[in-house]
Amino acid sequence: MCGIVAYAGPGDTTAILLEGLRRLEYRGYDSAGVAVAARRKIKRVRVVGRVEELTDPVGADLTGSYPAGIAHTRWASHGPATTANCHPHTDGSGRIAIAHNGILDNAEQLRAEITAAGGVLTSDTDSEVLAHLIAAQLEAGAESLVAATSAALDRVRGTYGVVVLDAREPDTIVAARHGSPVVIGVGDGEMFIASDPAAIAHHTRKVVYLDDGELATVTAGDYATITRDSRRTIKAPVELTAAAEGYELDGYPDFMTREMHAQPEAMRRALAGRLDPRWGTTRLDGILLDARELRSLRRVTIFGCGSAYYAAEAGALLIEQLARIPAEAQPASELRYRNPVVDSDTLYIAVSQSGETADTLVAVEELQRKGARVIGCVNVVGSSIGRACGQGMFLHAGPEVSVASTKAVTNMTLSFAMLAVLLGRIRDLSPADGARLVAGLEKLPAQVEQILADDEHIAQIARTYANASRMFFLGQVRGWPVAREGAQKLKEISYIHAEAYPGSELKHGPLALIDESMPSVVVIPDDDVLERNLSTIEQIAARGGPVIAVTSAELPKSAPITHMIRVPHNSPELDPILLTIPLQMFAYHTAVALGRDVDKPRNLAKSVTVA
Ligand code: G6P
Repeated sequence: MCGIVAYAGPGDTTAILLEGLRRLEYRGYDSAGVAVAARRKIKRVRVVGRVEELTDPVGADLTGSYPAGIAHTRWASHGPATTANCHPHTDGSGRIAIAHNGILDNAEQLRAEITAAGGVLTSDTDSEVLAHLIAAQLEAGAESLVAATSAALDRVRGTYGVVVLDAREPDTIVAARHGSPVVIGVGDGEMFIASDPAAIAHHTRKVVYLDDGELATVTAGDYATITRDSRRTIKAPVELTAAAEGYELDGYPDFMTREMHAQPEAMRRALAGRLDPRWGTTRLDGILLDARELRSLRRVTIFGCGSAYYAAEAGALLIEQLARIPAEAQPASELRYRNPVVDSDTLYIAVSQSGETADTLVAVEELQRKGARVIGCVNVVGSSIGRACGQGMFLHAGPEVSVASTKAVTNMTLSFAMLAVLLGRIRDLSPADGARLVAGLEKLPAQVEQILADDEHIAQIARTYANASRMFFLGQVRGWPVAREGAQKLKEISYIHAEAYPGSELKHGPLALIDESMPSVVVIPDDDVLERNLSTIEQIAARGGPVIAVTSAELPKSAPITHMIRVPHNSPELDPILLTIPLQMFAYHTAVALGRDVDKPRNLAKSVTVA
């Protein structure tokens, strides 16, 4: 999604901004731009396309030294991806430049007002009005850039993370936040601002997160934060955690490969210090509810978007099975609009890798407004959702760059498994079962290593089916969220139409689609619905459909399976975590065989920060 980078200091401003934009590329964007203040005028370069295409024009036009600058990667929301719609936007006189993330709901009305007053708008965007409104406040005598920005923001409704540059005060940047993240990086005689710490983490680890309703005035040597009603806020920098840093490919062909291979290590990090073999339970110190409060829960509702939602489904099942508490998963993008009935005995859990997904964040806020108790299951420490929840389980997956989530999703399900054991042991899960599961959790990272070593076998199967135009992913009970996530991965990065179905539903309609051209990936945990899964396979094979079985079970030799992917057996409850891994690898190799841009699939963004 849209990204902001800004810099104030003695360094090479344009080079620092371009490098920051490059580090935000993974979030997805369609155009980019840079602006600096030069001789009482804003100079800017904007392009539709990749940041590397910006490098040449910027090199040509923005050479020289500038004390401050702002930059942006845009994901078109208001108006198509054209140069005119790229940020930074300026006011009519070219004095003010802004880069904005978020959506201004009353932009149409403000655009009409600006035009009626003789202003000329040059883009279709909502954001451009901010530059005009701030310039107008300065013209009207606002005492400072931050006062002008605050007054301009009084006029807008909607969400923003915004940075502002004034050509008449070329060493100052003003930043403001409401619903869209802004972080200030505190350097030694230089300051950085970004919408995502990944853009600046290679420069400094000391950061200040702006809160909603806060503004900051930033110069090379200082930053000052105030609220919209002009109260000074005193904020000391905090240390950036590893999970918020950006990183490099380090010899891997792409981030997805690197992140898939980082899973064992990421899982070990998530498990570290949280397993209690003695009592057959887990410790999740980020959850600030005591045993009595946890015991009094009557329901658990987990919500997230995309892959996080499928992890939520796996989590709900684990909690229901191990703790015997009714648990359900909902897409956050639906929950927020449902006017949910909030129950004081329900624990709500928001799941998100980035912690910035707007649909999930708004669902958190809506639930909290109704008095719900919401905890987070989030990867990025300091993210909006993590902070809004104030408690929960951090994923410790480390930075994830590829749009298709792998290690974060694995750690989501792993975290839910730990929570399910904890809730179970507070209720009726026996010490022996608790101990069995704790031992199983401990074994998982090494088992994932084994699966990753099966890469060439899985790649061969993927190449065999890469030309299919459609595929089924089938699973039952524990296999069902795995199948949904497998279908999601294949869709996202290969663009093959993949549909997930509960295995036993096949005969109630979709069986009509089965023929030789429709491969089915069947997810088969070693559990009590094994017979049902075998029957599903028989039904497909009888209609000539190829079957790719992904299983932790010992299947009968007679089962009509075209290709088999075996994963090690753990416990029936934990096998789904292992079964997800080959499906990532299958999607990856299919996408590679089709020549897709695996890390940056078309039309998708890593974190969707607009609603
Ligand atoms: C976007 C991405 C998905 C991701 C979802 C949730 O839609 O394209 O791959 O699963 O956001 O992201 P989150 O950061 O909240 O886990």
